[in-house]
Amino acid sequence: MYVHNASTPDRKPVTVPGLRAMKAEGRRIVMLTAYDASFAFQLESAGVDVALVGDSLGMVVQGHASTLPVTLDHMVYHTAAVARGLRSTLLVADLPFMSDRDTAHALEAGARLVGEAGAAMVKIEGAAPHVLEAIGALVARAIPVCAHLGLTPQSVHKFGGFRIQGREQEAADRVLAEARAVEAAGADLIVLEGMPTTLAQRITEAVSIPTVGIGAGPHCDGQVLVLHDLLGVTPGKRPKFSKDFLLGRDSVAAAIGAFADDVRRGVFPAPEHCFN
Ligand code: KIV
Repeated sequence: MYVHNASTPDRKPVTVPGLRAMKAEGRRIVMLTAYDASFAFQLESAGVDVALVGDSLGMVVQGHASTLPVTLDHMVYHTAAVARGLRSTLLVADLPFMSDRDTAHALEAGARLVGEAGAAMVKIEGAAPHVLEAIGALVARAIPVCAHLGLTPQSVHKFGGFRIQGREQEAADRVLAEARAVEAAGADLIVLEGMPTTLAQRITEAVSIPTVGIGAGPHCDGQVLVLHDLLGVTPGKRPKFSKDFLLGRDSVAAAIGAFADDVRRGVFPAPEHCFN
C-alpha cells in the first residue's frame, strides 16, 4: 500500500455525480494526467479533482510519436500504480487504441480498468456508432464514461496530424452533434480537445454534463493538461495550449497547485493558449 503523508489534509472524495454538481454550481473542474503513484500523490496533495491516466503515456512516458502503441496491459499497469497514490481524487483511465473496436472488447477493457486497476471512470474517443453503443453498454454495467471529442489523438492518421478540429461551420456543427450524442448515450463527462474557443463554449452551454477542455478555451467547465507539459519536461516545442507552471516556481507541488488555482480562478487558459 502506498504510504500517504500524514500531513495531507482530508477532503471528501470527488465522485461522478459530484462533477455534475460542480458544473451546476459553476465550480471549475481541475483535471491532470498522472502515470505513476508518486506523481498521483502530488495531484492528491494539491487537491486536483480528477487524475487521468491518459494514453498520452505512449508519448510522454514511452517515447512514441503517437498514442497508438499503448496497449490495455500498459493502461492497467499505470492505472493501478496511480490508484495507489490517490485517496480522494477521482481516477479516470483511457480506453487505448482499438480496445473499443466492438462493445465486447470495450466492456472487457472497462472491467479491467475499473475492477482490476481501480479507475472510477473510463474515457473513450469519438462518437462513431460503435462508440455510442459501447458507452451505453459500459454505463448499463455501472462503468461511468468520459467522452473525448475534437482533436482525438487516436485518429491522428485520419486527421493527417494533431490538427485543430471544428474550424469550419459544418465541422463545428458535427462536433456539437457528437457532444449531444455522447450525452444521450450516457456519458457523464466530455473532454474537448483542440478546437476553437467558440465551439467549446457552444458545446458547454448545450450539454448538461460537464466539459473539460485542453486547447479548447476558457469557457469549458474545467481544464486538463498533460502533466509533463505542465512541468515543462515534454521534449520539443511547448504546445500552444499548454503552460509550463514550473517556470519561476521551486517545486512540482507548487506548479500543480498554481495550475489548480489558475483553473479555479478562470485565469488559465489565457488568450495566448486558445484557438480562434
Ligand atoms: O491521453 C491523454 O492524456 C488525454 C488528455 C490529453 C485529455 O487524453
